[in-house]
Amino acid sequence: MFLNSEWWRSAVIYQIYPRSFADGNGDGIGDLQGITGRLDSLAALGIDAVWFSPFFRSPQKDAGYDVSDYKDIDPLFGSLEDFDVMLAKATSLGIKVIVDLVPNHSSDQHALFQAALRAEPNSAERDMYMFREGKGHRGELAPNNWESVFGGPAWTRIEEPNGELGQWYLHIFDSSQPDFNWENENVRLEFDSVLRFWLDRGVAGFRIDVAHGMVKAEGLPDVDQNLSTMTGAEAENAPPHPFWGQDGIHEINRRFRKVLDEYQDRAMCAEAWLPTIDKMAKWVRPDEYHQTFNFSYLGTPWDKEKLQAVVNESLDGFGAVGAPSTWVLSNHDVIRHATRMGYAEVPKQGDGIGPDYPQPDEAKGQLISRAATAFMLGLPGSAYIYQGEELGLPEHTTIESKYRQDPTFFRTNGERVGRDGCRVPIPWKADEPAFGFNQTGESWLPQPESYVRYARSTQEGLAGSTLELYKRLLKVRKDFDMGNGELIWAPEHAGANSLGYTNNGILVLANFTGSAITMPPGELMATTQQNLLVEEVLEHDQVVWIKL
Ligand code: NOJ
Repeated sequence: MFLNSEWWRSAVIYQIYPRSFADGNGDGIGDLQGITGRLDSLAALGIDAVWFSPFFRSPQKDAGYDVSDYKDIDPLFGSLEDFDVMLAKATSLGIKVIVDLVPNHSSDQHALFQAALRAEPNSAERDMYMFREGKGHRGELAPNNWESVFGGPAWTRIEEPNGELGQWYLHIFDSSQPDFNWENENVRLEFDSVLRFWLDRGVAGFRIDVAHGMVKAEGLPDVDQNLSTMTGAEAENAPPHPFWGQDGIHEINRRFRKVLDEYQDRAMCAEAWLPTIDKMAKWVRPDEYHQTFNFSYLGTPWDKEKLQAVVNESLDGFGAVGAPSTWVLSNHDVIRHATRMGYAEVPKQGDGIGPDYPQPDEAKGQLISRAATAFMLGLPGSAYIYQGEELGLPEHTTIESKYRQDPTFFRTNGERVGRDGCRVPIPWKADEPAFGFNQTGESWLPQPESYVRYARSTQEGLAGSTLELYKRLLKVRKDFDMGNGELIWAPEHAGANSLGYTNNGILVLANFTGSAITMPPGELMATTQQNLLVEEVLEHDQVVWIKL
C-alpha cells in the first residue's frame, strides 16, 4: 500500500484531538464524520500525516486514554465504518493516518481488568495487571510510595469477590487506568494483535502512549522523591526511576518494531519523556522506534544559545543512530506555545493555568510563538503540529472550575488545574455557533471570546495571518525538501543576537532580542514580520526564510 519511501523521516504530522477538531453530530464532542468533512483544510495546510489522539471505546475518564476496547471506535466518535471512510478520504488527499496506541494501561472497564477483578489473587487473570498485597497488618497500606502523575497515590485497593477488602492495583495515572503487567507474555500477545488489527485496516503507524512507563523496576521499590511528572527526574544524572525509562522496555520496542516491519513503510513514534537526548536516541536505534518526540526541544525557551544547543544535540544524538530528529512545540498535554511563550516562567508540564494565575501576555506570546514556529519548520527531520496552533490559538487560561474535565484537577482538589486549556474545541468560523465547531453551539469545554480573532475564517487569505504563515512555511519546506535537508549554521549572516542556518539553499534567520538587523540579499520566501513595508531589516523576535 505504501511505497518504501521512509516518509516519516521528513513528514509534517498534524495532531488531531478528536474531541475538539470538528463535531459532525452537534453533541458538543468532535467526531469522525466531523473530521472527514474538514480534511480538505488540512490538505490545504500542506501536512503529510495526521496523528489521532484516541477514539477507541472508552469511558472517557481521561479523554480516551482509558481504553476499554482497542479494536473498536467509541460511539461518541462514530464507528469503524466512519473510520474507514475517513481513512479513504485522507488517503485520497495524500494524507497518512497514524493512530494512538495506549499499551501502558487500559480502562478499568476493559474486559481483561473486569475478569481480573472477578478472579482470585495470583490467578492468570490478575497477572495481566499489576496486583499486589498491601503492607501493614491487614494489608491496609499501599504496596509502595508511588504517586500518580495526576496526583494522589498510584495504588487503589479492591474489594475481592468474597466482599472483603483485598489486593491493590497499580495505576500510574487515574484509578480508572490500571497498568498492564508487561512481563506477562499474554499482554504482549494481546498488543501484537491490536497492532495488526490497525495495520491491516491501513494505518501508516502509531504514536505510542507512555512508552517509557511499561516496565517497572523489579520488586517495585519506593521512589526517592515523588514529583508527579512524566520524567520523574529533574537532574540529568538522576538514578534510574522505578517506573520511567527502565532498560527492559527496549525489548518491547523491538517486538513492536518486528510487527510493523511485517508491513510496508509503517512507522511508530514514542511518547517517552526521557530526561536527555542521549537517552532518547537509544529508543530510535534501527530495530526500535522510527521516531521519538523531542520533548527537550519542546521545553526549550526562545533563547539563541539554548536553541542552538538543543538543535545540535538533537541532530548529533539522533543522527548517530541513523534516526531523524523530530521537532514539536505543542500537544494536548502542554500549555499551547502561543501562551507559553508569553510567560517568563511557565507552570510545570500538566499543571495548566487557571483564572487565578498570573495571566499571559497575549501579544508577546503571539510574536514569539510565530517566530519559534518559523525557526522549527525550517529544521531537517519530522515536525509535529498540534491542531489549532496553525491559527496561533492561545491556551484558554480562564476556564471556570465547574467546566474542568482533566483528572488532574480532581485528583489534586483543584490545586493543579490540568490540561483542559489546550483542549478546547477549535474555531473554524468567527460568526457561527461554537465558532463553526458544529451547528448547534454545544461545546464540551467553553470556548473563549478571543476565538473571534483566531478563527480560520478570519485568517484565511489574510496576508500576514498565522494561518497563511504556516501554509507558506510548509509549502517552502516541501518545495525545497527541507525535511530531508542538512542544517548548516550560518554565522556569517547573523549578529550577536541573531541565529541563522541554511537548509537546502534556504537561509532561516532569527533575530532574538535588541535592535533590528539587516537582511542579506536574496529572495524572501517567508517571513513572520507583519509590517511588510520595510523588507530589508529584521526586527527582534522575527524570523525570515531567504533563498540565497
Ligand atoms: C499521555 C497522554 O498524552 C496523556 O494525555 C494521558 O493522560 C496519559 N498519557 C495517560 O494515558
